[in-house]
Amino acid sequence: SQFPVIAIDGPTASGKGTVASLVAQKLGFHYLDSGALYRLVALASEKQGIDAKNGPELGLLVPKLLILFKNNQVFLNNEDVTEAIRAENIGLRASAVAVHPEVRAALVGLQRSFRQSPGLVADGRDMASVIFPDAILKVFLTATAAARAERRYKQLIAKGISAKLEDLLQDLQERDARDSSRGTAPLLVADGAKVLETSDLSIDQAVKTVLDWYQSAI
Ligand code: C5P
Repeated sequence: SQFPVIAIDGPTASGKGTVASLVAQKLGFHYLDSGALYRLVALASEKQGIDAKNGPELGLLVPKLLILFKNNQVFLNNEDVTEAIRAENIGLRASAVAVHPEVRAALVGLQRSFRQSPGLVADGRDMASVIFPDAILKVFLTATAAARAERRYKQLIAKGISAKLEDLLQDLQERDARDSSRGTAPLLVADGAKVLETSDLSIDQAVKTVLDWYQSAI
């Protein structure tokens, strides 16, 4: 009697957020951007002066946060932080706070609470392996580091934010390395996951592939 989940995992800037939210829209499913939760912990802990290395203290911080997702906006303690959590330094800090088992454990229940009628599309690093191991479809969405750096670069420039391609490539390689090598819930291709390599695919093609896979899975 559990509602179906499509789990979409992959490295940073792989386009999984864009693809996942479009798939959710097409199916009329709920959408969980789990990376936003780690970004919220990063932002809140920075504001409160908590060291990103202090797992126990970060774990205690999580239940105190008032988190609200509403119409594509994210609120932290009633403040709109939609833009603030997208900053490059917050992404890096998110990957640092995400290594702590205390932080990950504190976020499990909140993530599972997004599983509601008629279904959920969840994107992140451990959606298929840890949070929704019974997902009906598991996708590992990826692209080469060069393709991902270029996508991130274009996104930032489009928003009027200056960026250097070289720095972005270095940041995402640093984040990939940390996300893949950590002891708890590392980024990996889960058992039974289908790999979708998107370097040469349009967003529409990637969305269509996931929808086709879903139709074959149900
Ligand atoms: O996907 P996004 O770039 O927003 O995620 C930010 C960081 O949060 C990642 O680099 C990763 O370290 C962490 N994360 C995670 N598990 C998830 C989602 C994100 O560890 N399910």
